[in-house]
Amino acid sequence: MVNHHKFCIAPMMKKTDKHFRFMARQFTKNSMLYTEMIHSNAILKGDTDKLLKFDNSEHPVGLQLGGSDPQSLAQAAIIGEEYGYDEINLNVGCPSKKVKSGNFGVFLMKNVELLGSCINEVKKNINTPFTIKCRIGVDNFEGEKYLENFLSTVSDHGINTFIVHARKAISGLDTKRNRSIPPLNYDLVYKMKERFPEQKIIINGGIEEISDVKTQLKFVDGVMLGRKIYSDPAFLLQVDKEIYSNVTNLEFGKGLQNYMSYILNLDNKKDVNRAITHLLQIIRKISNTREVRKQLLHNIRDNSIDLKDVFDCFKEDLTQKAHLQTR
Ligand SMILES: Cc1cc2nc3c(=O)[nH]c(=O)nc-3n(C[C@H](O)[C@H](O)[C@H](O)COP(=O)(O)O)c2cc1C
Repeated sequence: MVNHHKFCIAPMMKKTDKHFRFMARQFTKNSMLYTEMIHSNAILKGDTDKLLKFDNSEHPVGLQLGGSDPQSLAQAAIIGEEYGYDEINLNVGCPSKKVKSGNFGVFLMKNVELLGSCINEVKKNINTPFTIKCRIGVDNFEGEKYLENFLSTVSDHGINTFIVHARKAISGLDTKRNRSIPPLNYDLVYKMKERFPEQKIIINGGIEEISDVKTQLKFVDGVMLGRKIYSDPAFLLQVDKEIYSNVTNLEFGKGLQNYMSYILNLDNKKDVNRAITHLLQIIRKISNTREVRKQLLHNIRDNSIDLKDVFDCFKEDLTQKAHLQTR
């Protein structure tokens, strides 16, 4: 059976929505995808179709939940299971101000008792695999002994898959700086894999090259990449072959065309705009000129232009960068 966790695309708010995930799937079939974090209350009180519906091609895809109320999390997880997610993941790594005031995200690393109650309640109510995404510590809750105790306690509650962002979180730093200022400590994560060989450990943070992914896989079970994938989605074209030894014959041009057709079939303007924002990440890699990007946006929005002509403005650049298909 394929270990889809070998390569994971990180949950990212306002980035890994269903449109981005659809696009990512045009370039990798084997990697694991995750939604943005969705708070359990949003699922219980909001429009669940809008929040949770996804395209069948996205599998395998995990739903990331945020929250710290055991009952609400369990109810949200049940709904996620009904929508067909392959995994439910709990965010135990986000350090934002909002998260701090709600006492969830990484602040659950300070309150393992409450985290345990959340895990018990969710696990009691779903059959879908339930996993945790955490950090190596938060504030003065840090160090080898702390992380070992944390993983041991959480494992005792029945969690067997941990995604570990290899830097601690610092209260008071904004989320962006919390992704760069606290130093990465991969060795500590490797030590945890040695200490808990039965647990699946997926490492995350600052990984950008396929060679580094391969190196990490010598020490842990899986690797998760976030910012690199968002800024360069075509990177994913290497993953099936290089990481899964599985030739899926996905091609850059074809994937792009599929995504364009997808955009043109969206009927909600807000969705189209979000989907285009993701597309521009790719275009940036193909065409550096502003004019080309502007022309492309204009073409997409002009309903009278035929799909095959939408690409005309960067055909030349696309041919020049044909190596993207095979790299
Ligand atoms: C814009 C943005 C939004 C993020 N949103 C989430 C989120 O919703 N849930 C989560 O667990 N992590 C979130 N993260 C953190 C990433 O999942 C990941 O842990 C972090 O970016 C480090 O990985 P990287 O160095 O490969 O980007 C976000 C990161 C970014 C850049």
